[in-house]
Amino acid sequence: MLRIVVCVSGGGTNLQAILDAIDRGQITNTEILAVISNNAGARALTRAESRGIPGFCISPKSFSDRETFNRAFTDKVCELNPDLVVLAGFLVKIPEAMVARFSNRIINIHPSLIPSFCGVGYYGLKVHEKVLERGVRVTGATVHFVNEGMDEGPIIAQKAVSVEEEDTPESLQRRVMEQAEWILLPEAIDDIANGRIAVVNNKVRRQ
Ligand code: GRF
Repeated sequence: MLRIVVCVSGGGTNLQAILDAIDRGQITNTEILAVISNNAGARALTRAESRGIPGFCISPKSFSDRETFNRAFTDKVCELNPDLVVLAGFLVKIPEAMVARFSNRIINIHPSLIPSFCGVGYYGLKVHEKVLERGVRVTGATVHFVNEGMDEGPIIAQKAVSVEEEDTPESLQRRVMEQAEWILLPEAIDDIANGRIAVVNNKVRRQ
């Protein structure tokens, strides 16, 4: 049984996709231990609560400095002792100590085809604004392992999504969520839960 902790910051639609996939049997052999948010008002926490999943809010704003927050966040995750940490719309940089402790055991969903439109400053709606500004015809999403860099870890899977003439950042974000994020993240969790993924020489190998 893969025991996971899901980290969220906002609406929780990626968390909901995971919950629905578990209900449908599209994710097997997996248990959600808890949901952690940096945002007390995150709707994602309500989604967890409605399913009886323990929710915790650990916000940088509640700590005197970032280092103290990093320690508290890392300690909480270690206390829960998951096999896998899933970043599902989580907008806080993962502390180096946590990356080291959970090497190739943290995954993230990013709303672009990495290495395009990623790195510092590329998150949420900003990604889609930059995609439209550049005029690319194809975008998508990437699920990847988290390393010490920003959106630089081994790529697990990607899914392309077309950009339409009439798109706004909001309409494009919605399509990328529906056609890519909400598919990729549950599939990656199920693959990991059932031993279909390994990391060899910093590359993902399917087995
Ligand atoms: C989405 O754009 C996701 O790609 C990004 O955060 C946004 C909100 O995700 N990482 P969610 O609805 O909170 O899952």
